[in-house]
Amino acid sequence: MTAKLTDVANLAGVSATTVSRVINNHGYLSEKTKQKVFDAMRELNYQPNSLARSLQGKKMKLIGIIFPSITNPFFAELIEDIEMQLFTQGYKIILCNAGKNKQKESEYIKMLLANQVDGIIAGAHNLGIDEYQQLGLPIVSFDRKLSDNIPIVSCDNYQGIELAVHDLLQAGCKKITFVGDKQLKGNPTDERLKAYCDTMDKLNLDAHICSVAFSDSPLLKNMTIRKMLIEDKPDGITCTDDLTAILVLQEAKKLGIRVPEDLKVIGFDGTKQIQTYHSELSTIAQPISDISTLLVDLLLERINDPKKEPNQMHYKLPVKLIKNETTA
Ligand code: RIB
Repeated sequence: MTAKLTDVANLAGVSATTVSRVINNHGYLSEKTKQKVFDAMRELNYQPNSLARSLQGKKMKLIGIIFPSITNPFFAELIEDIEMQLFTQGYKIILCNAGKNKQKESEYIKMLLANQVDGIIAGAHNLGIDEYQQLGLPIVSFDRKLSDNIPIVSCDNYQGIELAVHDLLQAGCKKITFVGDKQLKGNPTDERLKAYCDTMDKLNLDAHICSVAFSDSPLLKNMTIRKMLIEDKPDGITCTDDLTAILVLQEAKKLGIRVPEDLKVIGFDGTKQIQTYHSELSTIAQPISDISTLLVDLLLERINDPKKEPNQMHYKLPVKLIKNETTA
């Protein structure tokens, strides 16, 4: 049976008010009294009701985290880093997988508000979530334009695809295809397609776009990629994420297309997991640890000084090319 505040009071031989004052460090209390209460709390494994504490203006030390899916290696690595950073600052997280479900994301925001989180870090892919417009809570966004007054942290998506295309050109590619979402959503990730088109333009090369959305199923992605490999016959492919690049490698193999001899492929994200289990893949690495550090620092800044306006609304962090066999 979960211990109650009154159980602690009885065991410590003090009043419930005294226990509450010890927990909230309120008013003068002798060390002897405090020790009796702490001993009773430990013996009964009593956990103070954080909601009650928050009603006394004490910070919950809880952060809501909203991302598309923890099964995606990029978000898994980013969330783990954010959680670790917050933990070292005395904060715990409530993790919300929004998936492709707008309703779910909205309900999660309501749940986080009801639980009085101190702030939110969000980077889910659902568009037009009204709740973000009038949240009244410290919030920072990863790679998504949620509202005009929510600062965004992202990698330099434009630089990333520029580096990728130049790596393919240096490897001798003449017909380079972009595999990613061609629907622009007003998010920083739109810069990836823009960089590809601008670079092709500057080099007077034809642009070839194979539209594959982040939220498409692997089966649909495979079919779209297979059709592109058969019909377009590119000799170079730049993908907007590593998982899509691995699907390209698999489909190329099924079609007997040799990588890198006949086709060179480069991904985007560069998570430790993909670099470990698919070390042959060239990719554009996002600075995941720097991204989580900045997201946490910006959010805690807003929590500790809500009136302070952010210095800038979009923080872009540099990426780096990791060259491996698939673009050798
Ligand atoms: O792979 C997940 C992608 O979604 C990443 O590139 C990240 O930047 C997000 O946009």
